[in-house]
Parts: sequence; structure tokens; C-alpha cells
Amino acid sequence: MSESLLMIPGPTNISERVREVMSRPQQGHGSPEFTEKFGEMLKLARLAFKNNDGSQFAFTGSGTLAMEASVVSTVQPGDKVLVLDTGYFGQRMASINEAHGAKVVQLQYPIGTHANPDDLKRKLREANFRAVFITHVDTSSAVLNPIKELVAECKNAGAFPVIDSVCGLAGEELDFDRLGADIVFTASQKAIAAPPGAVLIAVSNELLGYFQKRAKPIEGWYLNLLRWKPIMDDPKTYLATPAVQIMLALREALLELKEEGLEERWKRHRVLAEKIREGLQRTDVRFVAEEGYRANTLTGFIVKDGMAPQVQKELRDAHKIEVARGLGDYGGKMIRIGHMGILSAEQADRTVKAVGETLAKFGAAPPAPAPNNGPRNPGL
Ligand SMILES: Cc1ncc(COP(=O)(O)O)c(C=O)c1O
Repeated sequence: MSESLLMIPGPTNISERVREVMSRPQQGHGSPEFTEKFGEMLKLARLAFKNNDGSQFAFTGSGTLAMEASVVSTVQPGDKVLVLDTGYFGQRMASINEAHGAKVVQLQYPIGTHANPDDLKRKLREANFRAVFITHVDTSSAVLNPIKELVAECKNAGAFPVIDSVCGLAGEELDFDRLGADIVFTASQKAIAAPPGAVLIAVSNELLGYFQKRAKPIEGWYLNLLRWKPIMDDPKTYLATPAVQIMLALREALLELKEEGLEERWKRHRVLAEKIREGLQRTDVRFVAEEGYRANTLTGFIVKDGMAPQVQKELRDAHKIEVARGLGDYGGKMIRIGHMGILSAEQADRTVKAVGETLAKFGAAPPAPAPNNGPRNPGL
């Protein structure tokens, strides 16, 4: 029987090299050995974001911590913010903003559709928004949003674009400096192919300057990016204990990314995603994301309502392949396959074949039409 294969949209497979780093004896968080490597890791993060002169931050925690840190640091209570809601994680972003006293306006899109830059342009004319929250790849729908055009509209209107690239960075094209981005964050467990437990945040000098001159100082303590700036500049300084092994693993995974080359990794993701989509199309699956906006990091497709648990179980039991189901309302009728990080063409083929066999065995492929006008993913 072949090996178990993890094909969920994070955490993703990690290399032996990364695993080995985590099994070494404990290092002190203030030791020169560790703090030097932490500093190197932040330099490598700069390459992953393609950000030359902004500031890089790394925290122990999951992607949601980066979402909240970006809100707490960028948004003042009472500020008007715009959230582009293309699914579950856009909705989480709105909820976090509300929890911190922002006045949230949402541009809502039916599941599977992308955020439209023209809609954004119109909306930005209606009010002064402090920030616009954009999900690069919404992992609930597998939609890839057009960040270049969306960021350009934000910049024209003088609003800070906040980009959640938890399911994008390293797998989808993103060039912080070229975009003119202000804040982009990601998490370790997706296309970077490190274990879960760390987040990376890149912040432009302009936004950092704004953090300093806000009328109301940043309210959070642990989530206050400004408080962490001196520590990121000099990791020898103690503020709170990082997850040492996770940070070392993240450094190793970023080294692997550097060795592969960022552009090469983007390309590898594109090629494998096309291969998977083509293979699945031959089995007549119906993709959730609309054509032209399908992510290269994961694919979501519809199965007959209520059959997703059965399909997931069969893939696990009979094929040793772990896939994810939809989130919220889509738990019973959507399967999501993660194809980011470290993945071979053979593993992609094996997954496509197993999905085809499973859908045929249960007659689980749904009849037309497309689900794009269906109910919204209720999210939280
Ligand atoms: C796009 C996106 N944003 C945010 C998150 C939240 O990350 P975490 O589950 O690590 O808190 C996820 C998790 O999958 C995600 O895909």
C-alpha cells in the first residue's frame, strides 16, 4: 500500500530536512545560536515577500493571530474599514475588525466569485476608509483574488490595503514592493511548507510611520506590531518566548524556498494546479471557483449534497489520501484539495485518480448547474 498523503489546504507536507531541525536538542530562546538564526529567518522572509525595505515580523501563533495583529495595529476604534468578503476568511476578517471597534462595510460576493476592482473603486468613492481587507486566496472557495488591481484601487483612494496571503504566499505570485503593498501576512503551514505555529508579517515604511503617529495609540499589547519592531530589529532582546523549534523549522523551510527560487516555486504551483484541474475536469467535477480566478494552492469542487463526508472517508480509508471538506454550509457538499508546498507530479496524479474512482464508486459527482448563485458560506 502506498504512503499516506496529506492533501489538505494546510498544514502541508514538510521535508525531512525541516523535520530533522525540529528534533535537535532544545536551544535557549536568548542564546546566540538561536537569535542569530531568528534574524536570518527574517531576512529570508524578506525574499519570500519580495520586500526590500519594509519591516518583517515573525510571531508564534496561527494565521488568525496575524489577522488580528494587522487589525489592532492598523485600525483605530471608530475607523471605517472595507472588507472584501469572498468567503470564510473574509468574514473572519470582518468579525475581528468588529471586535476591535471598527465600522465595517463589506463588499460581499457569492461563493466562488472574485472581488471585482471596479466595485472596489466605486465603494471607495463613498467614504474614507482607513483600510481595505483583501484575502489573496480564500481557502474556503479556492478563489484567487486579483490583488494587483485591488491594491492599485486602494492606493488611489488613500486606504491601506491589508492582504491576507495565508493561503497564497510562496504558491501564488506576490511582489510586495511592486504591488506597493502596506501589510501582507502569511502563516508557516501552507505553501512555505513549515509546520504550523508561526506567522510572518511584512509592513511598509509608510504604514509603520502611521502606527507611530496614530491619534489613538495601538491598544493591543502582544499584538501591537510597534512594540515588536525593536525585537525584530535585534532578536537578542527578550519580549516573549518564541516557539524555538517552529522558528528554526520555518527558517529551514524558507532556506529550501530560497534554494528552489521563489519564481520557480510559483511556477511549480501553477503547473501542478493545472495538472490537477485538468485531471479532475476529465472526471466531470464542478469547480467552486469561477474560471480565470482559480487558485494554484488548492482546488475546491462540489459533490452531491451530503456526500462530502463519505467521499473524504473513502479517500482516507481506501486510498490513504487526506483531503478537506468545505467550510460552514459547504461541509457536506464540497471537497477541497490542497496542493501547495512540497508535492510531486506523481502525488498529484495519484490524488486525481483516487478522486475519480471515489466519485464514480458513489455516484457523487453532482449534476449541473454551477453553484455560484447558491447560499453564502455562512462562515463563523
Ligand atoms: C486565507 C486564510 N486566512 C486565515 C487563516 C487562518 O489561519 P489559522 O488557521 O492558521 O489561524 C487561514 C487558515 O486556513 C486561511 O486559509
